[in-house]
Amino acid sequence: MDKLLATGGGPLKGRVRISGAKNAALPLLISSLLTEETLRISNIPHLHDITTTMELLGQLGVKLQVDEKLAIEADASEVSSVIAPYELVKTMRASILVLGPLTARFGHAEVSLPGGCAIGSRPVNLHIKGLEAMGAEIKIENGYIKADTGGERLKGARIFMDLISVTGTENLMMAAALADGTTVIENAAREPEVIDLADCLNAMGAKVSGAGSDEIIIEGVERLGSADHRVIPDRIEAGTFLVAAAISGGEIEIHDVIPRQLESVLDKLRESGCAVESGDNWIKLRAPEGTLKSVNIRTAPYPAFPTDMQAQFVLLNAIAEGTATVVETVFENRFMHVHELQRMGADIELDGNTAVIKGVGGLHSAPVMATDLRASACLVLAGLIAEGETIIDRIYHIDRGYDCIEEKLAQMGAMIRRVPGHYLSRQSA
Ligand code: EPU
Repeated sequence: MDKLLATGGGPLKGRVRISGAKNAALPLLISSLLTEETLRISNIPHLHDITTTMELLGQLGVKLQVDEKLAIEADASEVSSVIAPYELVKTMRASILVLGPLTARFGHAEVSLPGGCAIGSRPVNLHIKGLEAMGAEIKIENGYIKADTGGERLKGARIFMDLISVTGTENLMMAAALADGTTVIENAAREPEVIDLADCLNAMGAKVSGAGSDEIIIEGVERLGSADHRVIPDRIEAGTFLVAAAISGGEIEIHDVIPRQLESVLDKLRESGCAVESGDNWIKLRAPEGTLKSVNIRTAPYPAFPTDMQAQFVLLNAIAEGTATVVETVFENRFMHVHELQRMGADIELDGNTAVIKGVGGLHSAPVMATDLRASACLVLAGLIAEGETIIDRIYHIDRGYDCIEEKLAQMGAMIRRVPGHYLSRQSA
């Protein structure tokens, strides 16, 4: 298994293009299951989770064609299976997103229960409850969620989400697009990725309104048609590069980004002392001359501060001046990176869902292990500013969600490279 080798060095400088958003691309590709006609999705990022989604859709009988610009054409006119097997669902929880579309179009679906996860228990009860409200009968048997509509169309329903769930909202929105009657999702997720999916569904002929607010109304239609849709930029990739520039004392410009989708993150970067400017589709960040100031963070659903940027800001605080509190309210166990940062010299105390971080000015290298996608990004960034060579193991997590991360960082002057699994550090050799 490959590792990443990062050497602490100078400031990041330059320009970088932001790829399409992973968490938008996955539901968009899966929405192809709702139509017999061709759906073309462009600006697809080059990621392992996209490959897994293609494998899953392929197993269901969807024909996929990828062109040289990484646009995917999906043709689900001849779906041959409605079963999402454990082997795929366990590697990517977003596979649960096939449950709504398959049940809505074919009246039956079997999707493996996703099982445990490094960042929390992550149940899917809200996806199930919503489909039941639309008239599906759901049984859990042998580790599979089995949904059946008894040959009827799903029916529009009023659904209240007890907790705000991004994929829960997306799953139910897709199912409701083909239901008989009107569905109202209350306490819906307001993330930009939900809006992107609604836009694509509408381009396919669906009648979705209110996406981006906490009440989404979907008037079901009998069938959906073809569409050509471009994935929105990845706001978390963008935020990750901005933090990389901030902590390395750098100055970068990112482009192909939608700045207003990053407002909570840009506010915190400004509060830490960075100069941030933005235009239509670009953001420039210049780190302060002196040290960064620590910033308190509380994660929550959009438009509040994203949980997917929490690990990167724990790192920022680890080297900033002052003491910060970071509270994680979305996932119960999303602080695995803290233990690794402590091994690199960070002064962090954990108490339940709160991390208290005393800035120490700098970190030193250590062999570290990635535990989930965003934790890995935090460790790669830590390696770029730590003294010495940091080896980051289990980087398959990072390949799931960051498009060519080492190439993009290297383009801005970072000293980072991929090394084979048997590579030993100088310290341990
Ligand atoms: N929850 C339930 N029951 C449900 C669904 C969710 O209790 O039926 C809980 C979860 O356990 C969690 C909270 O609700 O505590 C919010 O979870 P949500 O359902 O919103 O998360 P998700 O849809 O599984 C998506 C992203 C995550 C991102 C979260 C929060 C995708 C494919 N994944 O997950 O992205 O962290 O929303 O914004 O869109 C990542 O990219 O690294 C990542 C983990």
